[in-house]
Amino acid sequence: MTDVAPAPLFSDDYWHEPFAALGQLREQGPVHEVDLPEGGRTWLVTRYADARSVMSDPRFVKDFRNTLPEGQRASVPGIPSPGGEMMLLNDPPVHTRLRKLVVKAFTVRRVAALRPGVETIASSLLAGLPGDAPVDLVEAYAVPLPTAVICELLGVPVEDQDAFGEWSRIMIDDTGEAASMQANASMAAYLSELVERKRAEPDEALISALIEVSEEGEQLSTNEIIAMAMLLLIAGHETTATLIGTAVERMLRDPALRDRLAAAESDELRAAIEEFLRWGSPIAQAPLRFAAEDVDFDGVVVPRGAMVMVSLAAANHDPARFDDPDAYDELRDTTGHLAFGHGLHFCLGASLARLEAEVALRALLDRFPSFAAGAELPVPRRRSVLVNAWARLPVLLGA
Ligand code: HEM
Repeated sequence: MTDVAPAPLFSDDYWHEPFAALGQLREQGPVHEVDLPEGGRTWLVTRYADARSVMSDPRFVKDFRNTLPEGQRASVPGIPSPGGEMMLLNDPPVHTRLRKLVVKAFTVRRVAALRPGVETIASSLLAGLPGDAPVDLVEAYAVPLPTAVICELLGVPVEDQDAFGEWSRIMIDDTGEAASMQANASMAAYLSELVERKRAEPDEALISALIEVSEEGEQLSTNEIIAMAMLLLIAGHETTATLIGTAVERMLRDPALRDRLAAAESDELRAAIEEFLRWGSPIAQAPLRFAAEDVDFDGVVVPRGAMVMVSLAAANHDPARFDDPDAYDELRDTTGHLAFGHGLHFCLGASLARLEAEVALRALLDRFPSFAAGAELPVPRRRSVLVNAWARLPVLLGA
């Protein structure tokens, strides 16, 4: 394998047909150095087996400083606070300590208890929608549902939820670094003030629980609480909104699938959602790492210190792992798909995301079983390297 030429990956072609562009790259070789739209370059890992091993191999780290010889680490600044305190951007032992503090809130059992609340949110959102005029289901349903769920879980007041949606969107889309940093700063400032309010008036939600843990003497600084809330808010809604959007778009293209899912038993619907996760790969390529030493991929050496991005979308469509990978097939065995990542940083919210998608699709299909496209397909994709999402989904809901 000798092809190491930079590939013009994130071009218009990519946003038109991302899986085709990624497929070509995967066929050319296992890793490629690519330009990112906002500037900078990264190595992109495209094959299933490599993607899986990068996410569980300790030679790939989250904190750049851990790629340096021990003596030099202290002299290099990390990511500025509070972002730098996010568990997603840290390695053990910092990551282990932070994850332990929140993991209990996201177990399958704790998440199952949220079902009635999620059902109420879904039905009240649908109740407000007209049946006889096109509705953008991204804006009216796919985004507000997980936003409301994660804000409620954290204890963010309802009236502030729209601001969060907007800040996250700016941070995730290709809107330029200045806008993204501004949105990041606004969200951090808001959360810092919210943490102070929760200190004065605690409630039953997660931010108050984290404050309590820190006051009981566990090592959790105010910046770590802010970073945790920020991570959960960002990770907790864009991704799930994307999954719901993927499913709706697929059903708009394939009304027979819509009819099958409207009649599906719960386990069949859940299996279909796993295939939406694999096939749609809502997080297209986020899992970032840095190489802590030179690593050889089939003859191509990724040098120590290099940034490495895992393309979950390319890995989930690798024919070496899934037969006929570009076809959506709700009956296929999706075991081992990488939509939620793999290893130490495996998605903390996977159970919650699955529950939200199931409730959202069930409520939509029960109430509007014959929904149809309200505009010509395909609709445009969001210009984001990170998420594989539809910008809008105009839908005629029908009676
Ligand atoms: C991590 C995907 C929903 C919270 C991750 C990672 C992926 C992912 C791929 C691993 C990133 C890496 O290794 O660098 C998704 C998808 C979702 C989803 C596809 C929806 C369909 C959620 C939800 C929450 C959440 C609802 C909210 C609670 C997190 C957190 C992490 C994470 C906190 C970091 C875990 C760690 O660093 O240990 N997610 N996610 N995610 N996700 Fe999700």
